Amino acid sequence: MTSQLSEHDARAADSGANATRHFAQKVQAANAVDTARVSAIAAEALAALHQVIRKHQLSYAEYDAVKAWMIRVGQDGEWPLFLDVFVEHVVEQVANESRQGSKGSIEGPYYIPGAPVIGATGALPMRPAEEGTPLLFHGQVTGVSGDPIDGATLELWQADNAGFYSQFAPGLPEWNLRGTLVTGADGRFSVRTIRPAPYQIPHDGATGKLIELAGWHAWRPAHMHLKVSAAGHQLVTTQLYFPGDPHNGDDIASAVKPELMLDPKPAPFGDGVEVTYDFALDPA
Ligand code: DHB
Ligand code: FE
Repeated sequence: MTSQLSEHDARAADSGANATRHFAQKVQAANAVDTARVSAIAAEALAALHQVIRKHQLSYAEYDAVKAWMIRVGQDGEWPLFLDVFVEHVVEQVANESRQGSKGSIEGPYYIPGAPVIGATGALPMRPAEEGTPLLFHGQVTGVSGDPIDGATLELWQADNAGFYSQFAPGLPEWNLRGTLVTGADGRFSVRTIRPAPYQIPHDGATGKLIELAGWHAWRPAHMHLKVSAAGHQLVTTQLYFPGDPHNGDDIASAVKPELMLDPKPAPFGDGVEVTYDFALDPA
């Protein structure tokens, strides 16, 4: 990179590399290997790639450019970022196809387990003068039959008003805008936060280079991330979106679904907004 990185770009670059560190810390289950399945998937993935090479008559110069780019994705620590943006949405679709309850969406690279517990009502941890539109978010967690779930857990994480996630972009307090809600007997929760900003995936590394050379953009619409779970029920990982965002229709991560659109109303306080969203969890 010859040009000076802006402060924004420098923080975005850190986010990509930190996502690799966090992913490496995730405990990987030691599954028994199904050799036939590995063989089928690897062979078909490679055959799909061979087909693209033939169709577009890839030159040696282009082959070398692709090799150099893949090496750089790894050096920049951007494989989690790249895969979650361009591949995860299909894995999510396959995983959640048969659910009756709330729709899922991609997890993305910025989830951290163990965010501070808030209870059924409260506020996400935030700085004393956290910038952004105040947002009151409430709703109810039920089973698919509509019965309220006592003790359901909602883990919430979101970007701040500048589009940065705590623990990934430097300079933010630990757990900023991350929290764990636990419903009471009525299944209800209520949390104060701020409206997240539209978010550009870090675009100063190898992923950004691809986006630039392909003439794409790096935007995800503003969103809140959630994991909702309860004993005897399937956990759902999802995201919620705000109507009117210019990138709801062309999310770089292809993770928007009409069922995940919020309906903000003016809040009964100050200049904020209020949203209600209810979750229905499938039985385990
Ligand atoms: C990425 C970031 C997100 O916040 C998200 O929801 C999905 C993907 C990313 O940078 O890869
Ligand atoms: Fe996100």
